[in-house]
Amino acid sequence: MATINDNYLKLKAGYLFPEIARRVNTFVEANPDAKIIRLGIGDVTEPLPEACRKAMIEAVEEMGDRATFRGYGPEQGYAWLREKIAAHDFQARGCKIAPGEIFISDGSKCDTGNILDIFGSNNSIAVTDPVYPVYVDTNVMAGHTRAASDRGEFEGLIYLPITAENKFTAQIPSQKVDLIYLCFPNNPTGAVAPKEYLKAWVDYAKANGSIIFFDAAYEAYITDPDIPHSIYEIDGARECAIEFRSFSKNAGFTGTRCAFTVVPKTLTAKATDGSDVELWKLWNRRQSTKFNGVSYIVQRGAEAVYSQEGQAQVKELVSFYLENAKIIREQLKKAGLAVYGGVDAPYVWVKTPDGLSSWEFFDKLLHTCNVVGTPGSGFGAAGEGYFRISAFNSRGNVEEAMKRITEKFKV
Ligand code: MLT
Repeated sequence: MATINDNYLKLKAGYLFPEIARRVNTFVEANPDAKIIRLGIGDVTEPLPEACRKAMIEAVEEMGDRATFRGYGPEQGYAWLREKIAAHDFQARGCKIAPGEIFISDGSKCDTGNILDIFGSNNSIAVTDPVYPVYVDTNVMAGHTRAASDRGEFEGLIYLPITAENKFTAQIPSQKVDLIYLCFPNNPTGAVAPKEYLKAWVDYAKANGSIIFFDAAYEAYITDPDIPHSIYEIDGARECAIEFRSFSKNAGFTGTRCAFTVVPKTLTAKATDGSDVELWKLWNRRQSTKFNGVSYIVQRGAEAVYSQEGQAQVKELVSFYLENAKIIREQLKKAGLAVYGGVDAPYVWVKTPDGLSSWEFFDKLLHTCNVVGTPGSGFGAAGEGYFRISAFNSRGNVEEAMKRITEKFKV
């Protein structure tokens, strides 16, 4: 008789966003005339930049001609895209990242989960609380945890609380941790990490032989010139960090799919026999075996992000969503709510009013304003009493949602 991976039975019934969608659908079935505005999942709404569309159309035409047709591409991604990424996203910021250290992929969500394939099963693992649920769930699936407690915390993971008191930046642990997930600008709280803070983590990781998984999917939203966009802006990070980047939130590729992961060739971890093994070689082996690369057409679209027009159009898109975030922050403050984030990030993190739980506030907004957000408790126990509002929507929808909320919550 075939058996299953029992670790899946430890997971919460549904991944957070499908669970929200299920609740909203139930509400809509009962209230078919409700004009729902969705500020829950961080999914972009505005059209792809023209430069990316043009490049993809040209690539489609190339695929229609025997002379320029392409079959399988390199598993690591085309060199012309990796060269542009290395030059623009890293070398221009003083980071010594070479094109050969970049792996093009179909998403940071996939990569942050898949990266566990190349690590052992006995590592101690730290995540912040609240946290992007993928980091936790993929560790549960891989058998790195025991069951969840009543608080929904998985035994075997180390949770580092991020709260208003520590400005949503976790305290560096006193014990030794092997693998650490950091996400800046942060999903869900919208917090950013100053250089000295990242330096403290890099020093910690180097002293303890730890690896930092640095998720920088939202780096394009950083407006403060003193905030690092990459962990490789910190000396020593090449020896202790893997960075995840995405075209989803800067160029609107959530449906188009293109991202990349940086694994420096200077990064090693221990084999069971105590020898040091290059992580680049393992990740390259993993990707060559389990992944056939991102389509040529999509990689041409991603390459166009680095053209002059592409840069201007991406900047415009990001500024558009940042303006939405500003409107959300200002209007919610006006309604008397305590708000965080949303300055260098597309997420606004809201303290729920009147002691409401995160899901109670979710229901209240859904039922009274027909606005959907994300309950903070869905990101971890310490997210209870908070709520995330995403700035990814049209201006009209954001303004309308804020009008409905300020009318209901006027102080
Ligand atoms: C979110 O809402 O947190 C995002 O959709 C996460 C993601 O990009 O997977």
